[in-house]
Amino acid sequence: MASPSADRAHVRNFCIIAHIDHGKSTLADRFLDITGAISKKEMREQVLDAMDLERERGITIKAHAITMFYEADSGETYRMNLIDTPGHVDFSYEVSRSLAACEGALLLVDASQGVEAQTLSNLFMALEHNLTILTVLNKIDLPNARIEEASEQIVSLTGEARSGILLASAREGIGVREILEAIVRRVPPPLGKPEDPLRALVFDSTFDSYRGVCAYIRVVDGTLRAGDRIRFLSADKEYEVLEVGIFQLRLIPQDKLEAGDVGYMVAGIKVVADAKVGDTITHAADVENVTPLIGYKPMKPMVYSGLFPIDSDDYVKLKDALGKFQLNDAALVYEPETSLALGFGFRAGFLGPLHMEIVVERLHREYDLNVIATTPTVPYIAWRLDGTKLEVDSPAELPPTNQIERLQEPVVLATVITPTDYVGNVMKLCQERRGDFQEIQYLDATRARLVYVIPLSELIYDFYDRLKSCSRGYATLDYEFYDYVDSTLVKLDVLLNGDPIDALSMIVHEEKAYERGRDLVDRLRELIPRQLFRIAVQASIGSRVIARSTISPLRKDVLAKCYGGDVSRKRKLLEKQREGKKRMKQIGNVQIPQEAFLALLKTTE
Ligand code: GTP
Repeated sequence: MASPSADRAHVRNFCIIAHIDHGKSTLADRFLDITGAISKKEMREQVLDAMDLERERGITIKAHAITMFYEADSGETYRMNLIDTPGHVDFSYEVSRSLAACEGALLLVDASQGVEAQTLSNLFMALEHNLTILTVLNKIDLPNARIEEASEQIVSLTGEARSGILLASAREGIGVREILEAIVRRVPPPLGKPEDPLRALVFDSTFDSYRGVCAYIRVVDGTLRAGDRIRFLSADKEYEVLEVGIFQLRLIPQDKLEAGDVGYMVAGIKVVADAKVGDTITHAADVENVTPLIGYKPMKPMVYSGLFPIDSDDYVKLKDALGKFQLNDAALVYEPETSLALGFGFRAGFLGPLHMEIVVERLHREYDLNVIATTPTVPYIAWRLDGTKLEVDSPAELPPTNQIERLQEPVVLATVITPTDYVGNVMKLCQERRGDFQEIQYLDATRARLVYVIPLSELIYDFYDRLKSCSRGYATLDYEFYDYVDSTLVKLDVLLNGDPIDALSMIVHEEKAYERGRDLVDRLRELIPRQLFRIAVQASIGSRVIARSTISPLRKDVLAKCYGGDVSRKRKLLEKQREGKKRMKQIGNVQIPQEAFLALLKTTE
């Protein structure tokens, strides 16, 4: 194995970027095969996707890094640091972090699909980081691969010569060695000298309860060794390095990491906040001699939801689980929240709806915790009459209307790429969702790119499913935060016999309030079992009722029949009721089955 101090001319740092499912993890597997980075015994499909959830769903959630040693056709050995990145829009911050650790990017395009929404956003991000971009058309083995058309799209997008596009099938192992050769030839080696003062960028981290934080770093200048005294520049914290090394599925300790290397560092850090992603590490003695590297913009949650344990005894378990998740997922934020309907839980902030869905699913799988997640909300801004600003992450925080001067909501710049046949459908959907048309561009005769400014709240509410169904699954979406704009928003409440169900309150645009209120009232009427008294189900904005329905009471003779004077039957029935009560939530004197909440709040699919 080549030594980690192999001269800098023989180091290449690259990542693979692509739209979801275009084959990044499969291509990474082939690289690992060819370079023998992992043994045959350890090899399995999508080996870098370590989480069970990633493997089952075939999606990459966290970025992964691995060092491979590649013997090139020239006979020389290169140290190749590969960073595999997630494709889904919610995790695009992981992509931006990986890019900052590389000199080159492989832009992978599925030859049967062509350029998609996230191909574009990832390409733009790589260009912003001044990376050398190599385009690879993957899946050329598929009978419906459209190599000509996809190549044309790439040429018109990147201006790259047609001859520069690499053709491959990651599944069949075709063209894979050629890609590695192209990386050696076309991606520049890292700049930076091992003898300079140390500057290393933290681009990710994991937490292990025995060893503390394991910081994933890219050494930009200088050399880092075990025993060195280091300082995190922005956290202003000092530590002694216990171990440095490289990733090869497991951590492989090394004597040192030098300028241009990608690896890890362990320093007994028990406080996660001390080793922030985006921070610069230097030697404690060099603090005065270095300027910090350009870090990352802090990630801001864009979707909030209340998480409540179905079994209220699980509150502490939920608290522990969220705490543990946060150690490895810097984007997750949460604080305690209480709901009259659902009891004690947490208000949690996520990067997007998929991030939220994944956290809820991991709670179930890894901690056997079933939670009710309330309707996702975006962060709104309320400007009060006294000129102060309030960020509103939950409907409960919205001040009364008579205290508000105006409300603002976040809007995103959404890019949809669709076959031209569905342009009309996509435009209709975007208009229904209060989208503001920006531009349309025809990528070739069959594909168009549409750009809209759309309120984020409209995107997180089943937009993706609707987009897929109105384009037969072909349209793809990417979006980024754009701005906050003034909006006529109202708080919609749902009441049972006059008592509000706080867990169902939501902030909606005035135009959509009636539709959403009617829908909730109708569904509640179906879901709440009849009780001994009449139940009025209402949706209201302030004191104005905008939709109503009634659940009629059980008839007395039905009850009488149930008891029928039979004592043992009566006892059994009471026992059953007691058991059932555990699964009930109480609003005023009305009992609502928990399943009703689960059914009503299921909007994250
Ligand atoms: P995310 O991690 O979710 O972004 O996906 P990914 O880009 O890593 O894609 P992945 O490697 O998981 O591949 C997606 C699907 O395409 C899998 O079913 C692969 O088996 C399949 N696939 C990948 N490469 C090829 C290929 O060259 N040919 C064919 N026919 N299928 C491929």
